[in-house]
Amino acid sequence: MSVVVTIDGPGGAGKGTISRIVAMRMGWHYLDSGALYRTLALAALKAGVDETQSEQLLDLAKHLPLTFLLESEDEDHRVLLDGVDVTDDLRNEQTGSMASKVASNQAVRAALLQWQRDNAVAPGLVADGRDMGTVVFPDAPIKIYLTASLEERANRRYKQLIAKGLDVSIGELLEEIRVRDERDMNREVAPLKPADDAVTIDSTEITIAQVVDNILKLINK
Ligand code: C5P
Repeated sequence: MSVVVTIDGPGGAGKGTISRIVAMRMGWHYLDSGALYRTLALAALKAGVDETQSEQLLDLAKHLPLTFLLESEDEDHRVLLDGVDVTDDLRNEQTGSMASKVASNQAVRAALLQWQRDNAVAPGLVADGRDMGTVVFPDAPIKIYLTASLEERANRRYKQLIAKGLDVSIGELLEEIRVRDERDMNREVAPLKPADDAVTIDSTEITIAQVVDNILKLINK
């Protein structure tokens, strides 16, 4: 038996950091579904396939040679594509934007569904994404919708990327995140929205530790 906690929300709300900490504290597995779409986006970019080429995208999605390497509480997991460490390429906003384009494709999402569900193994899973509570794990007993103001989210992403040594502009980042959220929320397939039974947490004014605490309390209840 495996318990699943889903954490959905827009880009930069802190889902990754918070999910990773909750998973570590519980001794559970962690699914970063965004990394899956980002890796597919990177594979498409490398192969010269764009978001309009549905057949090629589907083929890439079905045969994605992807490995996740775990990680510690304060470090990103490493992601290997075809044995090559692509972790650093995954996090930039160009890959995020391409991920959001390939993620609008219904057939691609269907091809990646089972792989995501297979992560629900004992003792438990924290699943982070956009449609974890609505589509991938609709029966999860605990669903969180984690959000924050656009400005705060852009600011956090900015700090993360700068800390990784990337050269980014806060204005451009804000606009890219805004466009990506709008695409994710308004797409026909698996749009970003809170599940009917989700608890919404707004992290604009509270710390990561407080959000983690709230979620651990919900789990322990
Ligand atoms: O969470 P992250 O920013 O890494 O996600 C990148 C993109 O992947 C999102 O903007 C979204 O379009 C897509 N995605 C998705 N469904 C998920 C996770 C991510 O469509 N469950």
